[in-house]
Amino acid sequence: MSEFQEKNGVLHVEDISLEKIAETYQTPCYVYSKHAIIRNWQAFQHALPAPHRAFYAVKANSNLAILQVLAEQGAGFDVVSGGEIARVLRAGGKAQDIVFSGVAKSDAEIRYALDVGIGQFNVESAAELERISAIAAELKKTARISLRVNPDVDAKTHPYIATGLEDNKFGIPMAEAIGTYQRAAELPALEVVGADCHIGSQLTETQPFLDALERMLRLVDELAEHGIPLRHIDMGGGLGVTYQDEQPPAVADYIAALLARLQDYPHLSLYLEPGRAIVANAGVLLTRVEYLKSNGFKHFIMVDAGMNDLLRPSLYQAHHDIVNVRASDAPVITGDVVGPVCETGDFLGQQRSLAVAAGDLLAVKSAGAYGFAMSSNYNSRPRPPEVLIAGDQSYLIRARETMDDVWRGETLVPKG
Ligand code: LLP
Repeated sequence: MSEFQEKNGVLHVEDISLEKIAETYQTPCYVYSKHAIIRNWQAFQHALPAPHRAFYAVKANSNLAILQVLAEQGAGFDVVSGGEIARVLRAGGKAQDIVFSGVAKSDAEIRYALDVGIGQFNVESAAELERISAIAAELKKTARISLRVNPDVDAKTHPYIATGLEDNKFGIPMAEAIGTYQRAAELPALEVVGADCHIGSQLTETQPFLDALERMLRLVDELAEHGIPLRHIDMGGGLGVTYQDEQPPAVADYIAALLARLQDYPHLSLYLEPGRAIVANAGVLLTRVEYLKSNGFKHFIMVDAGMNDLLRPSLYQAHHDIVNVRASDAPVITGDVVGPVCETGDFLGQQRSLAVAAGDLLAVKSAGAYGFAMSSNYNSRPRPPEVLIAGDQSYLIRARETMDDVWRGETLVPKG
């Protein structure tokens, strides 16, 4: 059941119409469905009984209220910075439920993570391993660690979001994995608990995950022969969603395929780090048409949201469905849906056919993941508010920025 349904010709989120939301909070505005997030989360939770576990990838949408909703569901959290650790704790998540996957963790971040007592570090390099060991020893703590290895499989996704090929910057090359684990086993203040990988994002097939799992299990076997037993294997995030006509595997099927392969490994628990699959289809970006314009051979539908609000179309040529919030009998226009930012690449959709007039509200769909999280103040545009809908209630979970927010921290210099 989708929480985004048309009722009486108007698109609703749960029980509230997007017209009502625009009236209350103005546009542009991110709108999320609490029930959709919970439903998506529970699909993972049900398919992954303990000791297996899912950790929500905070980077996809790190609003405190969203983290709170997930913490109330008992979620674990996959974080990539000290800032994300702080957010999880602020939202009521527990430190021991955090895995820290940052790509180049600083001294300060490692110290902070150890101080608050996070569950484990996913370690990205041999040098980082040495650093974590030294800091943990100094703090008289033990850091539980997994090594992020690079399984060198092709995730068959957009090159910017494929992370498991050997020429990517992520993880430790498979060929160096055993040696690095041996080093980890002899370093002080470390406890080796697992192995970790993440091959990419928006995957629409199960096979690349199974290929990666195969390589990870080969590593697990070899490590056991070297007297380094592992307790869990973390296959990262990456399950795709439907933006347009993609048909990713159902959560239950993808997890069942992984667990089936793990049957011969009863002592190994499976960790997953879903981000997009939890929040992407639980959110829309609500925007209003400012002007219709034609340059003689091309039409433009000019809206009040731009690439600073939703970067994915500009950065990855990502497709997001765009619909008129109210069924309209205006003439159908085929053109680009563009924002107010001074860049040719500022579009939300290209060559879309929409029955639309100036003043109409449009919903840019599947915008809950990597939407607000990647927004910026480019062109001195205050970032939009975020609103969470639960049934017939709406909650402003992030206020629209003011110009004071935009220039916070900036100062003028003495004259002359
Ligand atoms: N774990 C690790 C270590 C990751 O690097 C990522 C995403 C995830 C989990 C979550 O992946 P997901 O389940 O969301 O696919 N900005 C891009 C996506 C970048 C993903 C980066 N890593 C986009 O808008 O498509």
